[in-house]
Amino acid sequence: MRILGIETSCDDTGIAIIDVKKQDLKKYFKILSNKIHTQVEIHKEFGGVFPMMAKREHGKNLVHTLIESLKDAKMYKKSEDKYSNKKKNKIKKILEREEELLENFEKIVFCIEKPDIDKISVTIGPGLEPALWVGISFAKALKELWGIEIIPVNHMEGHILSVLVNKTKSFILDKNTISFPTISLLVSGGHTELVLVKNFGNYKIIGNTRDDAAGEAFDKVARMLDLPYPGGPEISKLAEKKREQNNSIKNITFPRPMMYTKDYDFSFSGLKTSVLYKVKDIVQDQGSLDKNIKMEIAKEFEDSVVDVLVYKTIKAVKKYKAKNLIIGGGVSANNMLQKALKLKIKREKIKTKLYIPTRELSTDNALMIAIAGYIQKGKKNKSLKAIGNMSL
Ligand code: KG4
Ligand code: ZN
Repeated sequence: MRILGIETSCDDTGIAIIDVKKQDLKKYFKILSNKIHTQVEIHKEFGGVFPMMAKREHGKNLVHTLIESLKDAKMYKKSEDKYSNKKKNKIKKILEREEELLENFEKIVFCIEKPDIDKISVTIGPGLEPALWVGISFAKALKELWGIEIIPVNHMEGHILSVLVNKTKSFILDKNTISFPTISLLVSGGHTELVLVKNFGNYKIIGNTRDDAAGEAFDKVARMLDLPYPGGPEISKLAEKKREQNNSIKNITFPRPMMYTKDYDFSFSGLKTSVLYKVKDIVQDQGSLDKNIKMEIAKEFEDSVVDVLVYKTIKAVKKYKAKNLIIGGGVSANNMLQKALKLKIKREKIKTKLYIPTRELSTDNALMIAIAGYIQKGKKNKSLKAIGNMSL
């Protein structure tokens, strides 16, 4: 079975193609292509993602990303435009709100041969609704053109499954790959969730953020320090430098919000405000923030986020006797978070295996959506509608 995955939930336009073969209870996955077109440079200027701008960029980029992905998978073949006017009119209707996408679709997609693909999987949520809709409409138009069934996918399930991929182009999934129960910590720009994974396709959210997501806090604090978007990697770089220096000038500390509450929830809004007050104090005191102070704030902020994430995640691992711990989402690429989790598991001799996605797959991509499509196939179909706050 060949699946084409489409991802447009935030600011990355992704198209990936996988091939899956089933044999003797084993599933053999082959990655045929995984293309991503990031909008970071455009959103950088504004310090964050604007939904309507993201939508427009997806509309501009989807067809080109599809072509690149087909070429990589050696599935691209030009052909004459042989589609009926009836079909074309239906596609026009599907894409009536996506002007640029329709234009590219008519010019380019009508003139390629139907690729050897069996299903299309597309992210329907959670994410920015206008951005999600572009991907869904694109999937619908391809379905109309090529007669291929669509599998709606939850983006967060994609993040969980992204750890199945190693650094090579293929992997095997069998009953020994991941043991259950598993705990998954999903940390991105929009989410901070602890998920109990009873099996693939069977999820229970046990903890959530009450306000800002971890990645959002990184991005907001970065803005306070005049660092570019996305803020996570920038803060992390400064924090790392400070740790190398191993000295403190201001003795700054920040709180560990909700660390010891009985539940598995998080809150980062108060922490963000603490940083803001600290920044204001320092600016009032000495006129501006110098590099050294920025480094110290970055380190203390990162330590605080990591402490809380690690504490609650390990608490969940112990409580549910999780055989594996999967982390995913943009913030899972954070060095300090990875180090601290490994250290805690080792020190406390916890019997759980930690799975970390490759850096490339920690952030948004369509490969994880194609894989989630395979896992989801055959399930009762959710409706093909964008659901901004979709839950697992
Ligand atoms: O999963 P993702 O690509 O998109 C969403 O679905 O939100 O995550 C993006 C988020 C951003 O907030 C970014 O600042 C954060 O992940 N991020 C990091 C790191 N790399 C990306 N945060 C902390 N440390 C990092 N190394
Ligand atoms: Zn994501």
